[in-house]
Amino acid sequence: MNYEERLENVSVLGAAGKMGSGILLLTAVEMADLSLQRGNKDKTFVLNAIDVSKEGLAGLMRYLREQVRKVAEKKAVQLKKTYADRDDLIENEDIISQYIFDVMNIIRPSTRMEVAYGSTLIFEAVSENKDLKVKLLSGIDGNSPEKPWYFTNTSSVPIHIIDEEAGLDGRILGFHFYNPPAVQKLVELIVTNDTKTEVREFALDYAKKLRKVVVPSFDFAGFIGNGHFMRDALHAIQTAEDLTKEMPYVEAVYCVNKIAQDYLVRPMGIFQLIDYVGIDVVKFIMKVMNPYLEDEDLHSDLLDTLMEQGVKGGQYSSGAQKDGFLKYEKGKPVGIYDPEKKDYVPISDFSEVADQRLGEIPASAVSWRTMLRNKDKDTVLAAFFNDLKTSGALGAKLAVEYGRRSKEIGRKLVADKVAHNENDVNTVMLTGFFHAYGPINEFFD
Ligand code: 3HC
Repeated sequence: MNYEERLENVSVLGAAGKMGSGILLLTAVEMADLSLQRGNKDKTFVLNAIDVSKEGLAGLMRYLREQVRKVAEKKAVQLKKTYADRDDLIENEDIISQYIFDVMNIIRPSTRMEVAYGSTLIFEAVSENKDLKVKLLSGIDGNSPEKPWYFTNTSSVPIHIIDEEAGLDGRILGFHFYNPPAVQKLVELIVTNDTKTEVREFALDYAKKLRKVVVPSFDFAGFIGNGHFMRDALHAIQTAEDLTKEMPYVEAVYCVNKIAQDYLVRPMGIFQLIDYVGIDVVKFIMKVMNPYLEDEDLHSDLLDTLMEQGVKGGQYSSGAQKDGFLKYEKGKPVGIYDPEKKDYVPISDFSEVADQRLGEIPASAVSWRTMLRNKDKDTVLAAFFNDLKTSGALGAKLAVEYGRRSKEIGRKLVADKVAHNENDVNTVMLTGFFHAYGPINEFFD
């Protein structure tokens, strides 16, 4: 079976979820592009979007339609060539509408797992629960005449365990996208000792067609990305808890969030990122990772408390951010949740006082957005971080500690044989978390 044949009948499990919807979008576009190639006009390409939630699937179809329009607008010139033989498509809008139709036409939303039995490739993006993943994949495999290949998007479960428990004979690998899959360039690729060579080769071809950056990770729970993210998040929580000795809790959370974003020049503050991924998801990932760690317990009582109080973050099917550590209006943080009051405190009530506590940020500060396309960013960042090291202000001191911890976490991932090398750790953070610089750097010695 060649590349195209493998992609003629595909299923995505958990298609209405955050990751599933992105995987579905990217796969639908790739499959539609194949279907539009001259030699493939008589073939039928089918992409099953499977999810337990009917409402989620309806939201998914809306998301896809909007996103495919954006894709079509970006490749308008290419699409003119694709539809060169269609005299009825005259205006740009005709071509875009036709492309949206052709992409949407291959997608079959369904709440029934049975539709996956005819697929040759299955993307698994259901919730981070090993037993559920094993149950679904072994259920499909036992009923499928196709002996399909499985690409699991698990964030943390070792792939060899899913393979062994579901009896997949090496027809599985970890193909881990980052959120949002349509934007983040990274795919973490995890093969086991048993993963078949042809499955790995297909994965590399597929990633290349999607223009993804592939970083191999060893098959260790959490892999590289979450290996860094979980510890980074726990550092932030611990720092905020320590700060409550000198300031109220909501101010402490505000300060640490601001340090991660403005002082460490990241796209989001760390508490905003935890909300974006979902407090529940972060907690599940830590729980999955823990049994595999000898000298560490990745756990936070604060996350437990928030979950108990129903504060979970994550996103609505429209893509809008749900409240978590922070409260959002039009996607912007406007409040901080106080577990004692069981309510949000407006940021405007205390931001002035909290900013004074952090002290002046050096004039050399730069924003994440301006760094992305700055050819001189290493010099600019070095100047800013050096100013932080000599500043003496609380915010600067905490930022340097945070940068050093992030570097230590990155190095440990190499020492623990989760990542092959330091460059891979940096690439994961640059392309999966959209950081402007890698954690293993000269800035935070
Ligand atoms: N689907 C498709 N496109 C999306 C999108 C989505 N869900 N969300 C954002 N975009 C697009 C926007 O439409 C916009 O596209 P355009 O440039 O063509 O107009 C582009 O992304 C930038 O978006 P915005 O202008 O709205 O905002 P930002 O520039 O601030 O970028 C962000 C938003 C890309 C989310 C950025 O803030 C970011 O990268 N944040 C960090 C996210 C992160 O760290 N992700 C990894 C989480 S960990 C993980 O996924 C692993 C898992 O296992 C837990």
